[in-house]
Amino acid sequence: MDWQQYIVSIKQAKNSSELDALELQLFGRKQGLLTEELKKLGTMSPEERKIKGIELNALKKNLEDAIAARKQSLVHATFSSLKETDPLDPTLSLPPQPHGHLHLIPEFIRHVEDVFGRMGFDTARGNEIESEEYNFFKLNFEKDHAALDMQATFWIKDQPGNVLRTHTSPVQIHYMESHTPPMRMICPGKVYRRDSDATHSPMFHQFEGLMVGPDVSVANMKAIMSEAMRALIAPDIEFRFRTSYFPFVEPGLEVDMKFGDSEKWLEVVGCGMIHPNVLKNVKIDPKKFSGFAFGFGVERLLMIKHGIGDLRSFYEGNTRFLAQF
Ligand code: PHE
Repeated sequence: MDWQQYIVSIKQAKNSSELDALELQLFGRKQGLLTEELKKLGTMSPEERKIKGIELNALKKNLEDAIAARKQSLVHATFSSLKETDPLDPTLSLPPQPHGHLHLIPEFIRHVEDVFGRMGFDTARGNEIESEEYNFFKLNFEKDHAALDMQATFWIKDQPGNVLRTHTSPVQIHYMESHTPPMRMICPGKVYRRDSDATHSPMFHQFEGLMVGPDVSVANMKAIMSEAMRALIAPDIEFRFRTSYFPFVEPGLEVDMKFGDSEKWLEVVGCGMIHPNVLKNVKIDPKKFSGFAFGFGVERLLMIKHGIGDLRSFYEGNTRFLAQF
């Protein structure tokens, strides 16, 4: 028996079925060549068996090692050839998946809460449906329709006396009714007006702010607002305060900001010292306390910050627009 030839055949086996066939030929329980040789040991004299036994066991081990080694290299070959035959490569790093992020409005509102939070302002929430009482009258609006229409109100069918809030100012009232001075509050949220063009939308966002204490002044108001506008828009943002009218403040002011590189100013916030009548309406004594309030337009601020020309782009859900921010 040319065992050496078997070792060569094992090393050259082309695949695992060829190797299995060789293994069966050699080690098969019935008629395996080596199995038969080993069986013969039983018929030999003890001396002969001892010599032949050592020889056969060494041979058996050589054959087994050769088979194991070939098995190993066939498995390796199978896997390494997969890269030519199988398109799946688990080691490949895939192109990065696109990640979503917050829409720029809620993202900006978080920034607002953060900037004012660091100046000690509490964040309050209000309701989007308000009574006329809170949206207008407790804010010192006169009880005639012209005054209410100053804010192009949406009235609610079958709910006389309720409106979609036209501004976040009613939250001032709720907040002052449930807290005692000194207090500092901001409130971001949606507001509604019958208005629609490139700089007006029937729904938009504002954030209201309020500070009431023993001697809060216009200087305090201007300092806090200037600080916030620089932090929220840009450290070198240009803005101007000018006098204006809102029934719930006295004096009333508005802030305009420079829009882009043009000479255009965009109105972004109304503000002023809280009117004594409003303080009386919430049972705060105007002789002991004073305060200021402001209401920023979120979209307006973002238009200036990012040079966005049309306010309607905020709501179209166009991901190519939104992904820029
Ligand atoms: N509520 C006013 C508006 O929406 C803005 C404002 C808020 C003005 C607070 C003064 C004080 O136009």
